[in-house]
Amino acid sequence: MPLRLPAFPSSGKVANSAVSSGLPPRPAGRRRPPPPSVLRSCVAGLLAIISAWYVPGGAAAEQVIEHPGSLELVYIGYQQDNPPQLLVKAHTKYFLVDKGVTIPSINSIYFLEYIRINEGESVLDIGTGVGIQAIFAADKASRVVATDISPKAVDNARRNVRRYQLEDKVEVRQGDLFGAVRPDEKFDVVLMNIDYPYNDQTQHLWKVHERFFREVTHYLKPRGRIYYQIGLLDNLPVIRRFARENGLLIMELHMARAMKKNRELMVYRLERLPETRNGPALKQ
Ligand SMILES: C[S@@+](CC[C@H](N)C(=O)[O-])C[C@H]1O[C@@H](n2cnc3c(N)ncnc32)[C@H](O)[C@@H]1O
Repeated sequence: MPLRLPAFPSSGKVANSAVSSGLPPRPAGRRRPPPPSVLRSCVAGLLAIISAWYVPGGAAAEQVIEHPGSLELVYIGYQQDNPPQLLVKAHTKYFLVDKGVTIPSINSIYFLEYIRINEGESVLDIGTGVGIQAIFAADKASRVVATDISPKAVDNARRNVRRYQLEDKVEVRQGDLFGAVRPDEKFDVVLMNIDYPYNDQTQHLWKVHERFFREVTHYLKPRGRIYYQIGLLDNLPVIRRFARENGLLIMELHMARAMKKNRELMVYRLERLPETRNGPALKQ
């Protein structure tokens, strides 16, 4: 619920109306004490301001994050826990974010908008962060495995999973990409939204994405699908190559331009190429 500042009383208008009311002028040099009604309204105004900015257990600098998608993303404010955690509202759910863990971003919320999970499916969420995609997936999935390379993120995601009482359905594990997934585990859906290459300094991240594409089909059921988020239209040719080289087909692509960030948000849905007796049936 957005916090709003109360309307401030306009002191200028009060002074002017007193002058035009025909009251005798005040004696020079002596200030009359304000009438009790003015004092009362000042105190009431002050209390209203304080109560609007004070949320028990939390701070109030709420920020509604602008983005081109249609789901809501709000950074509600820091909770007064020790250490303080940021409370974030993503679509219909709330997530606590620990210091040192990536805050759900416009990429996260755009990704969430295009993920479709069917009743009873199994889901693997790679690079889960605070657990947002995994926790939403659990609305429909029968089982979710969420992994992250960062121990802090794993700890944070586990706590969010507990807050939603989803421990029986969502398992959070620490590991590099598929490092924490057993070779015999197969999923209907694999989700992946991790840091991606966007400038010269981040080019090394291609290696992680290339590895993801090389390994993902091993963990995917034969008719499974992948939802993958990587910003920037310029990255499209590389993704198409990774898909082609690993027998995957881009079935769906959603893109929107985030004007403030000056970059595109892009969500891909990929599936295995149908096999024929002569090998893959289609090429992109
Ligand atoms: C940008 S955050 C996204 C979090 C979440 N998927 C979302 O949609 O909001 C990326 C996360 O991926 C994790 N990550 C980065 N490299 C990874 C890797 N090689 N294996 C697993 N997780 C990784 C980071 O620790 C971070 O928590």
